[in-house]
Amino acid sequence: MRRGFVYSAAVAVVFSSILGLAWASPLTDQGTQPGLTYPIQASNSCKGCHANYDPSENLEPWNTWTGSMMAQATRDPLFWAALDVANNDVPGVGDFCLRCHTPNAWLAGRSEPPDGTVDGCMLDGKIDDPNASDFEGVSCHMCHRMMENTSPPAGEDPLYFENGQYWLDDTDCGGQGQPCRRGPYDYIAEGLTPPPHLWEHSPYHEGSGLCGNCHNVTNPVENLIIAGVDQGIAFPIERTYKEWQQSLYSIPDGLNPKTCQNCHMPDATANPSNACVQMSNDHNGDMPIHEFAGGNSWIPEVLRNAYPDLNMDAELAASRDAALDMLQNQSATVDVTAPLFVVDGSSMNATVKVTNLTGHKLPTGYPEGRRMWLNVEARDGDGVLFWESGAYDTLTGELASDVQLKVYQTKPGVWNLNSTNECDTADGVGDPIFHFVKNNCIKLDNRIPPLGFTGGSDLETQPVGYTYPETFSGSGILVNYDETDYTIFVPSGTKTPVTVHAYLRYQTASKDYVEFLLDEANDNGFADDCIERNSGLPGKTRAEVLYDFWTAYGRSAPVEMDGGNDATLILQPAPGAAQIHEVADFDDGTGTIDITYDPACGATDHTIVYGDLSNVRQLRYDDQACGLGPSGQASFNPGQGSVFWLIVGQDATKEGSYGQDSNRVERPEAQGMSSCDLPQQLLGSCDP
Ligand code: HEC
Ligand code: HEC
Ligand code: HEC
Ligand code: HEC
Ligand code: HEC
Repeated sequence: MRRGFVYSAAVAVVFSSILGLAWASPLTDQGTQPGLTYPIQASNSCKGCHANYDPSENLEPWNTWTGSMMAQATRDPLFWAALDVANNDVPGVGDFCLRCHTPNAWLAGRSEPPDGTVDGCMLDGKIDDPNASDFEGVSCHMCHRMMENTSPPAGEDPLYFENGQYWLDDTDCGGQGQPCRRGPYDYIAEGLTPPPHLWEHSPYHEGSGLCGNCHNVTNPVENLIIAGVDQGIAFPIERTYKEWQQSLYSIPDGLNPKTCQNCHMPDATANPSNACVQMSNDHNGDMPIHEFAGGNSWIPEVLRNAYPDLNMDAELAASRDAALDMLQNQSATVDVTAPLFVVDGSSMNATVKVTNLTGHKLPTGYPEGRRMWLNVEARDGDGVLFWESGAYDTLTGELASDVQLKVYQTKPGVWNLNSTNECDTADGVGDPIFHFVKNNCIKLDNRIPPLGFTGGSDLETQPVGYTYPETFSGSGILVNYDETDYTIFVPSGTKTPVTVHAYLRYQTASKDYVEFLLDEANDNGFADDCIERNSGLPGKTRAEVLYDFWTAYGRSAPVEMDGGNDATLILQPAPGAAQIHEVADFDDGTGTIDITYDPACGATDHTIVYGDLSNVRQLRYDDQACGLGPSGQASFNPGQGSVFWLIVGQDATKEGSYGQDSNRVERPEAQGMSSCDLPQQLLGSCDP
């Protein structure tokens, strides 16, 4: 019985190679070419069974996919505005773009002459018609026909990992007049009830390589230039798949193997978990949900509002929320460290550490206008803001630039555009440029590497204009976090306690980018959008349409990414400079420490608390020597390995100061130490 379902690769090759020669697209001529024997079926034809059977709608393939950016890739107004600029920069290049953004139309030949056009004007249907299959982005049938071509035509590879050069099964697999639907299950071997349609177990669908097809985007016309020298490799526009490959997650027997699917198609845990209306199998714990949530929560919200005829209100809202959840709970942790005490009228230092929890750079993928930044605030005891970096104005969409501003982004540019002999990212008058297909150099890439990142000297993925240290010298692995030091001036008379909070903010599209697209359309006289919607043709350029949506729907408002870690630190200004106490002697043989100390504040007695750094981090800090008197010397034996201590006055209101470790290194500076009310807390438990 199983044999009937088994697909024969040899037959597919004959078809695709013949058709490939006939229709090969000049910029993207590898993999399956337009002109399929078996056309892609609309996702509607899957909806009847793979949708609307679970009231919560949170695991059905159709309902979860349909609001995702992958399903909206051909409705995305940002895409259309950018496509016009690309076609203006390199005439004809749109065919390349459409291959990934509307595989259905591309495979049907509607993206280049003779039957189509590279601006998408020949796509069938209306942009806000939920049944127009040219506008349904990366669709069910398309993805479930993707395969490894085990005998590709001469000169071609069985698999590609860039530029949408997918191979599709284009053979009749069991006499049903259509190809097999390839998926993760082997119904026979797993003893499951098989689907009513032809199927084929496809390990390819369970791995990241499937996603790599489109999540590495390479410039089809420009090479990478570094310091004026053509590197002989095509310019890397997006490298999400490669970044993942160079991370710890890609190592199958490593510490933490995770495919794209593991994070972007999380397994359902509902009981039962059904993949179709027949509810023939319970896949609890082994049913990947088609969420495909990334960082883009803005475009789903735009489409939900701008195109009510799509009738996808609930689905688009769910995708928006899934992206917010990714950003807020799965992307990063943010930690602030600062000294325990601060003196008003002087500057203090605070360090903000951002750790990347994703499987690629943070942020990754689309380079233009995408960014993440740190918004750091210092507030006084009344909660009044007295210092800020990375302020954003939601009314104008403007990110204020200050000297300490940290923005995480990649900035591609055009080499020597303004005769500067540099990678130029602005035009002659200083306005930022975003010429996707003209970009041939990278000015900056300070995005945070993923865990275990080995791409530190790979020309395509290395940091540029920024360095990330190795985990340890010679490891060849970069750290997956970044630390930024801020100098914060605390005005005289600032009310205590001071709070420093760091917010990490993510933005899908910057104001600069949206304005650039508009300027390009105006300056170059782009035609009004040819794509119809239910209200007719918009009568505006695509960039104007985008700009209208941008102003109407929140200007791509930044999303706060907290990683669940509240990074508030309370600082207590000391009256006068806190005194650093001296380590007079340390005997490593016995572990005895001799200290000298003075009252920093007139406290009548002092306590020394000590322990090792890991204890300090967890705020578990039980070892103390108490009753040391108002000043003088003390000697005590905290034991081997004690590297940290703190001296506090017995009078909590007057506090004390901190000390040094046995190497005379000033403490505290433990990472992640949150010591809001440490002195009081310790005093409470110390009874001399
Ligand atoms: C971007 C490619 C992609 C698109 C688009 C896509 N799928 Fe999938 N689908 C997958 C992958 C990959 C898996 C298996 C993931 C794994 O095993 O980790 C899968 C699994 C499935 C399964 C098995 C059970 C389950 O729900 O996970 C079904 C059924 C399915 N898809 C149907 C659909 C339908 C119907 C649509 C359209 C509404 C669709 N898929 C759209 C890639 C896709
Ligand atoms: C008549 C109902 C019906 C329709 C229509 C339908 N499916 Fe299915 N499909 C099923 C059932 C039932 C299963 C088995 C579900 C399970 O695993 O419990 C299934 C399973 C699948 C699988 C899993 C295959 C595997 O080996 O892992 C994929 C992929 C799939 N369908 C894709 C599609 C796509 C794509 C469409 C639309 C082009 C579609 N289906 C239309 C009923 C249907
Ligand atoms: C046929 C090409 C193609 C394939 C295959 C593909 N993607 Fe995509 N994906 C896209 C395009 C195009 C977009 C962006 C659409 C947009 O933003 O307009 C996208 C967007 C996404 C996003 C949302 C990005 C954001 O900014 O929020 C995620 C997440 C994603 N894909 C994950 C996956 C995963 C996981 C797989 C493999 C199971 C995969 N993709 C396979 C083309 C593809
Ligand atoms: C360890 C979990 C994890 C793995 C593995 C992972 N991702 Fe992600 N990905 C995330 C999280 C969390 C986000 C949201 C943060 C963000 O937008 O960068 C994200 C964001 C994205 C985005 C949105 C782009 C952006 O940064 O705004 C795309 C596209 C994407 N992932 C694709 C992929 C692909 C393709 C793979 C496999 C090659 C993959 N991811 C592997 C967790 C993961
Ligand atoms: C190899 C497949 C592929 C090709 C070719 C491609 N894209 Fe994309 N595009 C993607 C993927 C994948 C994403 C989502 C990446 C992410 O979110 O990080 C994307 C995202 C975008 C976005 C961002 C959309 C948003 O809402 O943030 C724009 C704009 C865009 N592409 C325009 C273009 C243009 C213009 C071209 C042609 C010059 C093009 N793309 C070619 C795969 C492709």
